[in-house]
Amino acid sequence: MKTLSRRDLLKTGLLAPAAVAASGMGPMGAALEAAGVESDPLPAKATVNAPGSAAGRERLLLDFGWRFHLGDANDPAKDFAFGLGRSGTFQKTGNFLSAGSIAFDDGDWRTIDLPHDWAIELPFQNDPALASKGFYPLGRNYPATSVGWYRRVFDLSAADAGKRITIEFDGSYRETMVVFNGFYIGRHSGGYDPFSFDVTDFATPGATNVLLVRVDATSSDGWFYEGAGIYRHVWLTKTNPVRVKQWGTFVTSEVRPGEAALSIRTEVENHGTDTQQARVISTILDPSGKEVGKVVTALSSIPEGGAQTYKQETVLRRPLLWSLEERNLYKLVTEVRAGGDLVDRYETTFGIREVKLDAEQGLFLNGKSIKLRGTCNHQDHAGVGAALPDAVQYYRVRKLQEMGCNSLRTSHNPPTAELLDACDELGMLVFDETRMMSSNPEGLSQFTNLVRRDRNHPSVFMWSMGNEEGQANIDRGKPILAAMKAVATEHDGSRPVSIAPTRGIGVGGLVECDVIGYNYMDPGAEAYHKAHPEKPVIGTETVSAVGTRGIYVTDASKGYVDSYDPYTTTGRASAEGWWRFCDARPWLVGGFVWTGFDYRGEPSPNDWPNIGSQYGIIDTCGFPKDTFYYYQSWWTAKPVLHVFPHWNWPGMEGKEIAVWVHSNMDKVELFLNGTSLGAQEMKKDSHLAWNVKYAPGVIEARGFKAEKLVMTAKRETTGPSAKLAMSADRENVFADGEDVAMFAVAVHDAQGRVAPITENEVTFRVSGAGKLIGTGNGDPTNQEPDKGTSRKAFSGLCMALVQSNKSAGSITVEATSPGLETASMAIEAKPATLRPQVAVWEREVPTGAGITGLWRPVPGAGGRFASLAGDDGTLYILRQNGAELQGTVAGGGGGIAGGNDAGAPIEEGKVDGSGVSFKVGTSSYLGTVKNGRIELQRTTDPRLQMPSVAEPTGPRPAIGPPPDGSDPSRNPSLRLPPTISLVLQRVKR
Ligand code: GAL
Repeated sequence: MKTLSRRDLLKTGLLAPAAVAASGMGPMGAALEAAGVESDPLPAKATVNAPGSAAGRERLLLDFGWRFHLGDANDPAKDFAFGLGRSGTFQKTGNFLSAGSIAFDDGDWRTIDLPHDWAIELPFQNDPALASKGFYPLGRNYPATSVGWYRRVFDLSAADAGKRITIEFDGSYRETMVVFNGFYIGRHSGGYDPFSFDVTDFATPGATNVLLVRVDATSSDGWFYEGAGIYRHVWLTKTNPVRVKQWGTFVTSEVRPGEAALSIRTEVENHGTDTQQARVISTILDPSGKEVGKVVTALSSIPEGGAQTYKQETVLRRPLLWSLEERNLYKLVTEVRAGGDLVDRYETTFGIREVKLDAEQGLFLNGKSIKLRGTCNHQDHAGVGAALPDAVQYYRVRKLQEMGCNSLRTSHNPPTAELLDACDELGMLVFDETRMMSSNPEGLSQFTNLVRRDRNHPSVFMWSMGNEEGQANIDRGKPILAAMKAVATEHDGSRPVSIAPTRGIGVGGLVECDVIGYNYMDPGAEAYHKAHPEKPVIGTETVSAVGTRGIYVTDASKGYVDSYDPYTTTGRASAEGWWRFCDARPWLVGGFVWTGFDYRGEPSPNDWPNIGSQYGIIDTCGFPKDTFYYYQSWWTAKPVLHVFPHWNWPGMEGKEIAVWVHSNMDKVELFLNGTSLGAQEMKKDSHLAWNVKYAPGVIEARGFKAEKLVMTAKRETTGPSAKLAMSADRENVFADGEDVAMFAVAVHDAQGRVAPITENEVTFRVSGAGKLIGTGNGDPTNQEPDKGTSRKAFSGLCMALVQSNKSAGSITVEATSPGLETASMAIEAKPATLRPQVAVWEREVPTGAGITGLWRPVPGAGGRFASLAGDDGTLYILRQNGAELQGTVAGGGGGIAGGNDAGAPIEEGKVDGSGVSFKVGTSSYLGTVKNGRIELQRTTDPRLQMPSVAEPTGPRPAIGPPPDGSDPSRNPSLRLPPTISLVLQRVKR
């Protein structure tokens, strides 16, 4: 059966105009008929299914209601018995670890929601070996804090029978082992690329299911902070057996005058037991949600266990292009029909835009020349570590945009998917980087995942195959990079590849790059361009200037670096040096400054007590440093006038202080206490400086454009700290349990001026419909816990991150500090539709008379046979109704003996005075209730016991077997007796 080609469809007139009604057989049916393929009945409205449950596909957020406990990398007894025991941990399928059983008591595990990073919960440790990680105790020397266990119980509905059940992890740091319903499922190595496991065979529809995840952050990748744990979203996906493969859709477009030709590739897989005849119906919705195109393939057969790629083409008239200013996002709705049924519906957001990289003129987006004003960024943020709620991704992109940044590099790893959503929606180009430069299976799989997941994002304009990999510069790197490039070509083919290199430009394996990158080597780039005028060149990493927000005197003993802009850690170009170089060279595509935001780890240039880097133009909270305004002056059209340092210098009277101005005014005049210190013309891409003899009062800059005063900026000598002032980045948030608002607190003097030198401890209290999820202050030496309730105000500022609950209402945040006037403000958590998500599970504790409730065996009380038989780990859920006893015995049923760990019902249950009896499966229980305990004898059906063998009688030889009629292989002392004693106690969980 052939797939309908673009030519076939063009012949039918279906493709243009693209807007085709989706009703009845309509033009689509006509198209099928005209194309000579058999038709199948299509529903009257093929695209009206609600997202989440459409056509059998559900993608449910699995973030809420997890339990967490630290394990231990060295001690199996503290690691939930992982690796403990005489038999191999992986000996049998099922019953892998008792923590994976439904009966397991996780009462002392903390309740948490994802995303979660346990590293920032750990106390800082002054160990030089931990410097690059931000002095958090992770690694081989810290086994007790390097492993985390996560547990999530959830119900699957009976209707899920026959569905494919997949657990998708967006990212987890770093070695992740997944156990589902007691079955070992698999492991994933790598802290940044998404991974998933199909758990269908191990799932129990219509019952309770248990997901257990062990995350080991002992080994690490970076020389920077990386976090620990399930720090990104987890999803539970249910589909029919015939479905679109994960990330299996791909839309590319060719922009032509007045139209765009779209090519759509759709991979459909068949997990069913028969060959399926399937077709793909692709519907295009424009940014307003209006249907503007529909194409349909012929039926094509997909063998059982096989897959098929469908190719479609269509033309859209007057497409709305995606650009940095107009973020037009289209939606592709993919429907798969098989056996006459609509079996899957899958949505893909994409944008139509044209990116060209020219060796002489740089980058063009939709024909418009754009110099890349980019920053490199790691992924952590104040208060939350690596576990950023989605709202924080948007906050960060907005901050970068405020500075005029139009592009970012996801150094040095695949980003969280929501960062790319934010870039698509807010208008920011992305240089998307993989973690492992390698053609080994792991490296290629990480890169494949990156390309497949991210290829529909219009913001992503280029793939990065790595960072500063020495092997890339030599010939050995060539086959590696060629293999990686082949991955990009196979799964994308529409974007160039590059790499961020060190100590070499375009040499060795780097010749594989479509765009030649360089880290810091500006003169080398110039020389390279001259020698290779045909290759586009980009500054993959630039600047690396350090500075502490609000600090103007470098003091290594305090860990601070002045925040003028002269200091780069490696003698590289300063902010100005770089930007002047870049701006003056039209051939240079642009570049990515190291870094937009400060990050934990890589404390530079100082070590302990610094726990974070100071490379950011913005601190870890999002508070701008002075250089922010340099970039803002030259990267935005907005009028900028920023004067610094602050003007509180007691003891410096009469001494010279460098006063700098970042501005894009033509001319700036500086005044000290009303007296002019002279005007200076501003040179393009520069700053202005005056040496000023200090006198307390006011330093004021006046900015002129075309000789007209446009704006003024001043710094005043402030009085002592008197009060707190609060502001928030949002007026309201969604009451979805995920949204976050940033509350900035400034310490003011009595006249409402920000005090520039502060030590005030600020305590936050959040009440109403939200919760405090972290605090920060941007001080790279501050070691207060991120998850505490207070922070010192640093250079006048600190911040609280506040997350909504799932109920609407107002959220009030109050900030107090001894001796200062309190600040408080409220924002509104607005009613919101929750994303489709897995309901939080809580064990139901039956209440009622008699022995109704939860009961567990008292460990050891039943003797060693109870432990040997696995009875110790079972849970008795009992309901007494008069003389009748009902309930379930859960756990202990899986494993080598088989059975269902989720529990088996109690049958023939009776309570008679203090006597209790019941049956579960092949076991009968008989016992008494005594002093609040239940003493039981469990007898297993004798027919299931090993045949009993007569003990040897008669005389035995001194050496050798006993006489006939006995079995020497049986040691009676090891044989499990048919009856086992158990003592149950009442428990809460
Ligand atoms: C670069 C490196 C970055 C960061 C930076 C600090 O060479 O790629 O990850 O370490 O130096 O200057």
